[in-house]
Amino acid sequence: MSEETPHRRRPRYSGKYPRRFDQKYKELSGNPETLARVLASGKTPAGSHVPIMVEEILEVLDPCPGDTAVDCTLGFGGHTRRLLGRVAPGGHVIGLDADPLELPKTEAALRAEGFGEGIFTARKSNFAGLPAALAASGFSGANVILADLGVSSMQLDNPARGFTWKSAGPLDMRMNPSRGVSAAQWLLKIRPPALEEALIENADEPDAAALAAGLAGKNLETTTDLAEAIRSALPHRPAELVEKAIRRVFQAVRIAVNEEFSALDALLRALPACMSPGGRVAILTFHSGEDRRVKKAFQAGFREGIFSSIADEVTRASSDECRTNPRATSAKLRWARRAE
Ligand SMILES: C[S@@+](CC[C@H](N)C(=O)[O-])C[C@H]1O[C@@H](n2cnc3c(N)ncnc32)[C@H](O)[C@@H]1O
Repeated sequence: MSEETPHRRRPRYSGKYPRRFDQKYKELSGNPETLARVLASGKTPAGSHVPIMVEEILEVLDPCPGDTAVDCTLGFGGHTRRLLGRVAPGGHVIGLDADPLELPKTEAALRAEGFGEGIFTARKSNFAGLPAALAASGFSGANVILADLGVSSMQLDNPARGFTWKSAGPLDMRMNPSRGVSAAQWLLKIRPPALEEALIENADEPDAAALAAGLAGKNLETTTDLAEAIRSALPHRPAELVEKAIRRVFQAVRIAVNEEFSALDALLRALPACMSPGGRVAILTFHSGEDRRVKKAFQAGFREGIFSSIADEVTRASSDECRTNPRATSAKLRWARRAE
């Protein structure tokens, strides 16, 4: 090193706990080498999302040049990128997402990668409104439809969105923060019997009654307030069981606040009319309440002759994929094909 260019250390954040999400993770700078290093270490880089079961999904959806595809859950665009690669030339992908904060970032990234308006449309929409979203883009039916349910890593990891108990943040949990009520408002208003029911229905919570008694009607402003209240409601449970209960309660509240089951039911009802003859649909679910709904809807469609074939069994992620992306462990894939 020459005397003219003295070595300078990278400026570091001086405190033990970064004050903000964007101070904590180097990969948020978008530097490709940093991103590659984080991925190689088996972690999801902050501010991104690793798509699950991509090859299995492409196999069942079989997107072809000229096809119209809808990715109902655009997220970081991982599945959409691959669909775009397969429908060209002549095809089109519509990417829907309810999240007004992440959608523009993903749209901008895909445009910067060269996917123009001729091949890709991003639309802020709940997938419950799939028929209207298709019509607004000028299509009467899709050859390929994908839904990868739940929340993205970007939403989960950002404390400001209120989905994680691992760092303090406002107790919000809305995918679209401009609609409905926050998780804090929902918990403040709810009565114990209704909360108990939600904890059972949305997360199979074994301690639903004790948790409902400890949480319903409480004024909990932050994610860590909720985690603490869960710990206090289960004073005699071992720590590792309490941590699992925290995960389940957060899941149940998130599902309720975003009305995820009614959105999924609406999507399942709308599917047949939105699929072209011979069209394929694939849905990735992450817990039993979701999978049960998809399985029942596909079986009913098959019995009625709407679908010509459906998945007999769920497909799970390979052990290799689960090792490198633990979020794949609970994923279940089902598919159906529209009759000709
Ligand atoms: C698991 S992520 C999808 C990740 C995406 N497949 C990828 O490869 O990056 C789920 C996404 O779906 C969105 N989402 C969840 N429920 C939705 C709904 N009912 N309507 C529209 N978007 C929804 C979330 O905001 C989130 O961005």
